[in-house]
Amino acid sequence: MLALMSTPSTVVVQGLEKSFKDVTVLRGVDIEVARGSIVALLGSNGAGKTTVIRILSTLLKADAGTATVNGFDVVSQAADVRESISLTGQFAAVDEILTGRENLVMVARLRHLKNAGTIADELLRRFSLIEAGGRRVATYSGGMRRRLDIAMSLIGNPPVIFLDEPTTGLDPEARLEVWQAVKELAAGGTTVLLTTQHLEEAEHLADRIAILHEGRIIVNGTLAELKQLLPPAKVEYVEKQPTLEDVFLKLVGGKK
Ligand SMILES: Nc1ncnc2c1ncn2[C@@H]1O[C@H](COP(=O)(O)OP(=O)(O)OP(=O)(O)O)[C@@H](O)[C@H]1O
Ligand SMILES: [Mg+2]
Repeated sequence: MLALMSTPSTVVVQGLEKSFKDVTVLRGVDIEVARGSIVALLGSNGAGKTTVIRILSTLLKADAGTATVNGFDVVSQAADVRESISLTGQFAAVDEILTGRENLVMVARLRHLKNAGTIADELLRRFSLIEAGGRRVATYSGGMRRRLDIAMSLIGNPPVIFLDEPTTGLDPEARLEVWQAVKELAAGGTTVLLTTQHLEEAEHLADRIAILHEGRIIVNGTLAELKQLLPPAKVEYVEKQPTLEDVFLKLVGGKK
């Protein structure tokens, strides 16, 4: 117990390796996510972000390395890990025919929670879906679906949430709404590991940013720390700080 309490990180990943047949995807990935913080995992298409999330969610087994989530080992204590997490994949897992409220009530009942209606109403309020709550999800915009999807994943208050590209395909306004919801979660003590292709998302949302490239985490730090990796470019008297995009492209070898 004491050992657990002295562990500051809720997600601890060490030396994770994974190959699919002859394709090596992860070559020794190390990540830590402190309790109540937001870590963004960045990487190009095919870098292995979803693979990491699937291993941490117990959906996939690593070839080597260890990972603990909420103090539980993802292999030997998989059931405890599943109780501790929620996973929101890229495509909203909501039922179109039901209303938003019915979707929430259904999940709360599936989790054997009492007061499913009260829980649903509270989540509708928290995600600004009260007015839409009585409408079929088929009539929702992408942002509303995504918010409902995240709301559904919070039922039962999991201490850790994994969000795989939570705002892909959303317009800037809907993206802001999702960011707000995620920030509130972390402020409430939930630990968040998200993947994103949107560098701006990582800049705005994450406490720390980890870049996955060629099977390893090549940098991991705060935005300010990452920006220090490139010297500021001087344009006359105006100092231009590098953006995260500059840092990312430099590190993964892209051209800009
Ligand atoms: N079940 C599988 N069988 C074979 N190859 C796989 C499997 N799952 C993933 N891969 C391969 O592993 C690599 C990493 O995939 P992954 O989905 O983790 O990448 P990603 O970083 O999430 O990419 P994206 O940004 O496109 O979502 C890719 O080359 C992919 O083709
Ligand atoms: Mg992916």
